[in-house]
Amino acid sequence: HGIPATLIPGDGIGPEIVDVAVRVFDALGSPFAWETQQAGLNALEKSGDLLPAETLDSIRRTGLALKGPLTTPVGGGFRSVNVRLREAFQLYANVRPARTIIPGRYDKIDLVLVRENLEGLYVGHEHYVPIGGDPHAVAMATGINTRAGSRRIARFAFDYAVRNQRRKVTIVHKANVLKALTGMFLETAKEVGLDYADRLEYDDRIVDACAMQLVLNPWQFDVIVSTNLFGDILSDQIAGLVGGLGMAPGANIGEDAAIFEAVHGSAPDIAGKGLANPSALLLAGALMLDHVGKPAQAQKLRDAIDAVLATDSGRTADLGGGASTSKFGDLLIERLRG
Ligand code: NAI
Ligand code: MG
Repeated sequence: HGIPATLIPGDGIGPEIVDVAVRVFDALGSPFAWETQQAGLNALEKSGDLLPAETLDSIRRTGLALKGPLTTPVGGGFRSVNVRLREAFQLYANVRPARTIIPGRYDKIDLVLVRENLEGLYVGHEHYVPIGGDPHAVAMATGINTRAGSRRIARFAFDYAVRNQRRKVTIVHKANVLKALTGMFLETAKEVGLDYADRLEYDDRIVDACAMQLVLNPWQFDVIVSTNLFGDILSDQIAGLVGGLGMAPGANIGEDAAIFEAVHGSAPDIAGKGLANPSALLLAGALMLDHVGKPAQAQKLRDAIDAVLATDSGRTADLGGGASTSKFGDLLIERLRG
């Protein structure tokens, strides 16, 4: 019973924070029936593959996964598991909400970046041209944006904005220089925006100006939609506005599957020490609840996280507190049950 969902503990701090997530989801009365599967370094050691067929089959069946961070071994020519998952399930939309929980340099930030996840300069069409004795005299990369891909991500962003009671979508591009690659993206996204003109405002920004505006006045933004490379960079920037990667959740969404994760990595420097902050993974879990049509449970979880993090005793070491990973989980569960 329950909605079948794949659970990937992952590497490093992954199993510790996933363990907290499972306990917290139980306390919340979550709708998910977990299917635990391996991926990452631990899977490589056990089964010789960073991304075993069983794990792929499970996600294919459930169409839903909550994923701990995975270590991609350096050297040995391994392709990133995260990129393989995106390609395997055509997870074309990367959604990164950034919301202030603990006020720092900025307060009351609440914005969402929607990044195209499959096209652009990240398609991996790269090569060198040798000249004279230098085999790498010229380095080349081809960026590929399709009309269909641009329309799909723009539609996703506008639909997301409507569904989540947002007011504005900002299209980010570099159409003044990359006239074809991002000019077409801008033109297509604006066309999509016309279909929503009765419900949403939209405007556009050149990416470099947008980066500056995000520092000077981030409150002017609401939902931002951009191409792969710009979206990658800006999504880390907006994570910085709300206190860094430790608080940042992400969703990778396709037509047939969606994978939810913390934005941070496996943090090998603190693994096994009870120092990891599970907030980002739990916030990803809240996005997953939203995704399956359980917004009330998602909000209950977010409210509980906010409340625990508002207390000194509820903060993990990365936030200057003394709570261990499991203690943070216990406090959250108390809050949810109380
Ligand atoms: P990282 O995000 O794992 O760690 C960067 C710093 O932030 C470290 O000092 C770490 O202790 C701290 N940190 C990260 N998450 C934290 C948390 N939840 N609580 C408290 N502190 C936290 O980035 P790094 O060190 O560059 O990468 C480590 C490994 O993770 C690499 O193998 C990398 O490939 C992988 N990685 C995986 C990702 C994924 O699966 N989505 C994303 C990013 C990196
Ligand atoms: Mg990135």
